[in-house]
Amino acid sequence: MGTRAHPADPGGVMKPGGVVGATGEGKGGPMVDGFGRRIEYLRISVTDKCNLRCVYCMPLEGLEWLKRDALLSYEEIVRIVRVMAPMGLRRVRFTGGEPLVRRDLPDLVRMVADVPGIEDLSLSTNAVLLAEHADALREAGLNRVNVSLDSLRADRVDAISRRPGSHGRIMAGLRAAEESGFTPLKINVVLMGGRNDDEIADFAEITRERPWHIRFIEVMPTTANLDLSRENYVSCAEALRRIRALGTLEPAEGPTGNGPATYYRFPGAPGTIGVITPMSHNFCDRCNRMRLTADGQLRPCLFGDLQTDLRGPLRAGEPLEPHIRETLRVKPERHLLVQGSDSGSGGLVALSQTGG
Ligand code: 5AD
Ligand code: SF4
Repeated sequence: MGTRAHPADPGGVMKPGGVVGATGEGKGGPMVDGFGRRIEYLRISVTDKCNLRCVYCMPLEGLEWLKRDALLSYEEIVRIVRVMAPMGLRRVRFTGGEPLVRRDLPDLVRMVADVPGIEDLSLSTNAVLLAEHADALREAGLNRVNVSLDSLRADRVDAISRRPGSHGRIMAGLRAAEESGFTPLKINVVLMGGRNDDEIADFAEITRERPWHIRFIEVMPTTANLDLSRENYVSCAEALRRIRALGTLEPAEGPTGNGPATYYRFPGAPGTIGVITPMSHNFCDRCNRMRLTADGQLRPCLFGDLQTDLRGPLRAGEPLEPHIRETLRVKPERHLLVQGSDSGSGGLVALSQTGG
């Protein structure tokens, strides 16, 4: 079964029984991997393309894009979700690349929202196109959005994303998201020494005023960002140390959608501060997820090179459940990332290829 070489989250509560889909597939019980972890969360990459070129994520040039017919259609994506829902899939996140560069994304959101058993739909976006689509996404049934924002300064956002002019559009996107009801917002900040680590305090202070969940992420090495990830590495422990200099932090409940983040807050603050520590503290023991690439490969882990082709069997009209079970069986216990080395990434050039 075309499985080749391999992060992580705690699960919600699995409903007993599940919903058996119209396909007749998914009757073999909940998705549990070889380490007893229940899988109830699927990250679906809808495109490998992006309208930004963030320094830690993508090379400026030279990435080859998937051909159109290699991409799963929206109908094909929904067929996979329909097989997985009776197997315990409850939450879906749309990622990319940048998911909003794919046309008519709200249509896909609506189609997935209609699948029985799916309870929570979220979107990871850079927010450049969010102002145009926020209302339609909300109406289609999207529950939450996560926005990548690595600096609060226009010149830095433009420099990190290597697309001048993006800062203004991102700010408009954030406003639109709040106006459409996507609150509380989750903001992801990738920590980069010398590029944004002097803004850790500014980001943290936002949580005293706004109900935002600011999440600091340790940069993960890929083939394309090795220099950056080696020289500019700032740990979340260091970020928390600097934030504690501003005031006491108390442990906090995270927002909905349990993830790999650990949350804190300033007492009485409406927002929280989260840390995601793929490098310094491995959280794979709580992993509750798999990933579906834009070309229909089911990946049990963000890193490594394990993946199972679902597109072939899907287009051949074959059952998918055996392929999904095989992917669960080989899901690794943990990722093998090491700071300054991409050896554990399985030669991953860019996170945009697997949906982050
Ligand atoms: N290290 C850490 N985070 C990354 N992201 C993309 N590439 C990397 C990397 N190399 C983050 C983006 C986004 C999320 C989907 O993944 O900032 O918030
Ligand atoms: Fe695009 Fe997100 Fe990668 Fe930035 S981090 S280049 S916004 S996919």
